[in-house]
Amino acid sequence: MTTQHRIERLMDLTDEHIQGLTDVLMDCVEGGASISFMSPLTRERAVAFWRRVAQGVAAGERALLVAGDEHGICGTVQLVLDLPENQPHRADLAKMLVHRRARRQGLGAALMLAAESMARDCGKTLLVLDAVTNGDAARLYERLGWFRVGDVPNFALMPDGTPCSTTYYYRDLNQPVVPEKLEESPLTKESVVDTHIREIIETQESHV
Ligand SMILES: CC(C)(COP(=O)(O)OP(=O)(O)OC[C@H]1O[C@@H](n2cnc3c(N)ncnc32)[C@H](O)[C@@H]1OP(=O)(O)O)[C@@H](O)C(=O)NCCC(=O)NCCS
Repeated sequence: MTTQHRIERLMDLTDEHIQGLTDVLMDCVEGGASISFMSPLTRERAVAFWRRVAQGVAAGERALLVAGDEHGICGTVQLVLDLPENQPHRADLAKMLVHRRARRQGLGAALMLAAESMARDCGKTLLVLDAVTNGDAARLYERLGWFRVGDVPNFALMPDGTPCSTTYYYRDLNQPVVPEKLEESPLTKESVVDTHIREIIETQESHV
């Protein structure tokens, strides 16, 4: 069975959004993901993080996507847009998170494609991100055509305090994804996504 997910861009975060995003963040940290937070992550700290993100979204400094299923928000990704004035074409992709209940169904890939679409909407042509070296997320990014720049040993800590290497990636949005890197995803074909994002995903598919 293919789960239906809806991906949308939030311009204004309600308390309900913040609670849903908090659930996703806490689930990811509990699951051992190295995403800026140490374990145990309290609900209070997680809510405070999303309130700061909400302020950034309202100020136009960040752009935020959420994915939902029948239980609420199950995935998210954001672009940091407020970079130095000599980098107007660039954004950082951050906090790519999928709740454990929604993983391995293609949602991560769909969120990444939607984030690329949103970046274009924001006038960005170059995206940069970092991920734990050789982790689940690194595989996802490489599959989607992100270019591996290099590793920084001992860059961060896992939630349990273990040091981990980080790999930097970039994606030039003027370059089409290499066909063999983009696997078939049932989600990008069948889920309900915003019409505009759907068009971009279909455009992307027609390029490969
Ligand atoms: C990394 C992460 C976002 C991936 O999300 P996801 O929704 O599971 O991603 P996808 O489903 O697109 O791909 C994940 C795997 O499922 C596989 N998959 C996708 N659709 C599938 C399907 N219908 N059936 C079976 N497998 C499928 C993919 O091939 C991929 O396989 P791989 O791990 O062997 O490479 C998620 O694991 C996560 O949130 N991790 C914790 C937070 C984190 O580390 N974020 C990254 C910060 S840089």
